[in-house]
Amino acid sequence: MDYEILKLNVEDGIAVVTNSRPKALNALNSRFFREMDEMTAEIKARDDVKVMIVTGEGKAFAAGADIAEMVDMPSERAREFSKTGQNTFRNLELLEKPVIAAVNGFALGGGCEFALACDFRIASSKAKFGQPEVSLGLIPGYAATQRLPRLVGLGNALYLLLTAEMIDAEEALRIGLVQKVVEPDQLMDEVKKIAGDIISKGPKAIRLVKKAAREGSLVDFQEGCDLESQHFGDPFGNEGVEGMRAFLEKRDPKW
Ligand code: CAA
Repeated sequence: MDYEILKLNVEDGIAVVTNSRPKALNALNSRFFREMDEMTAEIKARDDVKVMIVTGEGKAFAAGADIAEMVDMPSERAREFSKTGQNTFRNLELLEKPVIAAVNGFALGGGCEFALACDFRIASSKAKFGQPEVSLGLIPGYAATQRLPRLVGLGNALYLLLTAEMIDAEEALRIGLVQKVVEPDQLMDEVKKIAGDIISKGPKAIRLVKKAAREGSLVDFQEGCDLESQHFGDPFGNEGVEGMRAFLEKRDPKW
């Protein structure tokens, strides 16, 4: 598939995927979801990509699901539209490579849900977040009712879901919706720096730590701990774990 909406740039192990339909504030339509599925599969398959960054072109990260596409949908079609988006974001969440959202501007409705499916979020000080669906007479369809409470707690989540209030990046930081806020002109440099820091760590450990946290969040505590022990054992082998050897030998690891 040729990408029309997404742009891909790969450099130094980092894939920057840009949602580029700025005239519609990068609103998420069916084509976006098809391209995102393809992109996730491509990133998964490419050995030259270690970390994926997603961002948006212009003043929005994504201003929600495409209202023009949804407006006349019958219920059954709307349910399918919701499932499609949920599946796409679930694939992204389960990708065995870190995915960072570089939130450059509006992240509203489905756009906020897109950011929620990433492993963590770094925001420009100009970014705005919200779940305005109830203002349109809708509820979220890409799992905000599920991911948001898990991320920011039920009270903060229901505040955003029920009031439809748009919050700024500092407020998003305060409630734990984003992990860091930086000046707009420093956003991509900062996110690439964080991606580079991740790439410098043990590659197997990076894959396993995400897997343990992601898989563990879906099961009960004890089952999650069992998964952790299982994955903990994976890097060990006859030749030892390079990072620990390097520490003891007072040298940098050679991954
Ligand atoms: N869907 C379709 N088009 C959208 C859109 C969306 N979610 N958001 C913005 N656009 C379009 C506008 O219609 C406009 O198009 P035209 O130039 O052709 O008129 C263009 O993008 C620019 O938007 P504005 O003129 O509105 O820009 P603004 O700077 O005045 O306002 C904004 C920015 C506050 C983000 C405003 O665009 C807005 O409120 N957008 C809608 C946000 C929203 O309600 N999102 C939730 C969607 S529902 C959802 O996401 C459900 C789900 O979970 C599945």
